[in-house]
Amino acid sequence: MPNRFTQCLTGSTGVLGVIGDPIGHSLSPAMHNAALQALGKDYVYVPFSVSALHVQEAMAGMRALGIKGLNVTIPHKVAVADYLDEIDPVAQLIGAVNTISNQTGRLVGYNTDGYGFLRSLKEEAGCDPKGLRVMIIGAGGAARAIGFQLALSKARALVVSNRTESRAVALAAEIHKQTGCSAIGIGFRELNSYLLSTDILVNTTSLGMYPEVATIPPLEIEHLPQTALICDIVYNPNKTLLIQKAAASGRATLPGLGMLAYQGAAALEIWLQVKAPVDVMKTALQRQLSAALDI
Ligand SMILES: NC(=O)c1ccc[n+]([C@@H]2O[C@H](COP(=O)([O-])OP(=O)(O)OC[C@H]3O[C@@H](n4cnc5c(N)ncnc54)[C@H](OP(=O)(O)O)[C@@H]3O)[C@@H](O)[C@H]2O)c1
Repeated sequence: MPNRFTQCLTGSTGVLGVIGDPIGHSLSPAMHNAALQALGKDYVYVPFSVSALHVQEAMAGMRALGIKGLNVTIPHKVAVADYLDEIDPVAQLIGAVNTISNQTGRLVGYNTDGYGFLRSLKEEAGCDPKGLRVMIIGAGGAARAIGFQLALSKARALVVSNRTESRAVALAAEIHKQTGCSAIGIGFRELNSYLLSTDILVNTTSLGMYPEVATIPPLEIEHLPQTALICDIVYNPNKTLLIQKAAASGRATLPGLGMLAYQGAAALEIWLQVKAPVDVMKTALQRQLSAALDI
């Protein structure tokens, strides 16, 4: 019986994909397959569930099967680096890889998360972080990627605020040491006292993410300047409680879906050397998210 792949998979179809554990809820296959179709590329993008025990074998498999490119998601972004031939300087700084390109058997690791945020900031919010003061809430993997990217983009100063204060202090110290950007780490207790001198605030914690949609980082939005831009990288839901409250206060906002689309676009551009159809990718993400929320 014919299925929807009968028409599109050929003997020369190239393979792209994503590895992670769990992987069943990933939005990347919908986003990338929509882009590949729009570009008319003979490629398919597949989710691979890979346990932490099998990361090395997955990299050997990528070489053996000639898989052209992989995205890497939780929990493998750090571990995968041990099995690559080369790591791009930005990914080295961040200490994590979210994109691997198979360049005729040579596996090269990149991190497009920070770049994805930067492009979303510039193209969707019209904001260049150069010379601006940024507060990053959270000190996990996404905070690292965004923190280093903003420091490299010449932000004037970074404040990293995290529930576990020691992680914020360590990340800020590392960003300062590696890039020279002024950066300090604080706990949530001190967060509000830094808001008045914040131009861009970015939530990188999972607070507000489905199903905990009623949660929000512990900040008094009214302490921020009226001109501050409030960003949330949580994309499920795309309008988190933080984004809703910030918008209601009259401040500019930037939700997380754009970062997701632009980090994917950057990966596609690395793999296939083409300009990614970002609008198609955003539409596919929105459709997939609405379908997930309807379940
Ligand atoms: N839009 C995008 O493209 C994009 C890309 C990457 C990630 N994300 C989203 O970003 C979020 C974080 O991802 P990640 O990879 O950075 O995760 P991670 O490395 O596990 O870091 C999680 C961060 O959230 C904080 N956190 C978790 N639960 C908390 C709570 N109940 N109260 C206060 N802080 C809490 C953690 O603080 P502690 O250090 O105190 O534990 C840590 O700073 C996720 O929601 C993810 O979906 C979005």
